[in-house]
Order: sequence, then C-alpha cells, then structure tokens
Amino acid sequence: MKLRLSLKTIAPMALAATLVAGTVAVRAQDAPGGGPNKVEISNEGKEVYETICQACHMADAKGGGGAGAAIPALAGNKNLASKDFIVNILLKGRGGMPWFYDMLSHKQIAAVATYVRGHFNAYAEPVTEADVDRLAAGAKASPKDCSTC
Ligand code: HEC
Repeated sequence: MKLRLSLKTIAPMALAATLVAGTVAVRAQDAPGGGPNKVEISNEGKEVYETICQACHMADAKGGGGAGAAIPALAGNKNLASKDFIVNILLKGRGGMPWFYDMLSHKQIAAVATYVRGHFNAYAEPVTEADVDRLAAGAKASPKDCSTC
C-alpha cells in the first residue's frame, strides 16, 4: 500500500479521528436511539457547534491556521448571508472542510446553520429543516462531490 499523505491531509484526518473518538464518547453516555450514523447530540445549534465545528473554526468562530490548512472565520462572514451557502457546505464539504451529510441529521444541520448565522453574524432568519431537505435532494446525487476525495 502506497502512503501518499502530506501534512495537509494528515491534519484534517487527525481532527476527524478526534471527532470520531468524541462521537463514540458521546454515544457511550447517551441512551440508544436515533439514526445509526447520526451524531447523538442534541438538536441545539450551539451544542452542535461546540461539539463539532469549534474544533476547527474556534470557539469565537474567527477561524485559524493549522498545519497547512487555513480555516476561515465564520464570524462576520458575508458568505453566510445566503442560507444555501452554509447548508451546501455542510452537506457537501469543500476542500479541507468535511461534509456532514451522513453525520448530522437535517435538523442538526439546520440548527447549527441557524446558530452560526445568528450568533456570530446578524442574520436572524432561521435555516429550516425544509431548507436542508431541499438542498440535500440535490446533494444526494453526488454526496462525495468534493475536491479532496
Ligand atoms: C476538520 C476541520 C473542520 C470542521 C470540524 C468544520 N470545518 Fe468548516 N471549514 C474547514 C475548512 C478547512 C474550511 C475551508 C474550506 C476550503 O478549503 O474552502 C471550512 C469552511 C467552512 C465554511 C465556508 C466559509 C467560507 O466563507 O468560505 C463554512 C460555512 C463552515 N466551514 C462551517 C462549518 C460548520 C458550521 C461546522 C460544524 C458543523 C464546520 N464548519 C466544521 C474546516 C472545518
């Protein structure tokens, strides 16, 4: 087996491993239930953010630069004016940003998108589950449509 891992690929992988470990820990504490591949955390956007996103985007959502991969700020981010923009990123990923299509429920994606838009920006209009359903219908055709995979 050929190993062609660069630092750029290892850094997100290490984070992903941490994430998986975190998920298992959360699962062990929680009562069984819910979809098999969904993260068993609450549907609160704040909790989803703190459990998953803040590892990369930081608690203040100002992003940061890790080993090779720059992480964009989500606070004061004009791209987030569009609900579709953040939902599509969460469904499909992009570059070093993992996709959460098969990890978070549509409800959790809607909640975290609402939280990030409202808490770190001033976009008050909530992202609904219906918004995620609509965009996921398009994403289903190519869920792995991402430049790193
Ligand atoms: C493993 C690290 C990692 C995690 C976890 C992560 N992100 Fe990201 N995110 C990134 C990186 C890296 C980018 C830049 C992607 C690129 O190369 O274009 C990014 C980009 C984004 C963007 C696009 C920003 C822009 O203006 O272009 C949004 C929105 C976003 N992330 C939201 C989230 C949310 C919400 C979560 C939690 C559900 C999350 N991310 C979890 C690493 C991460």
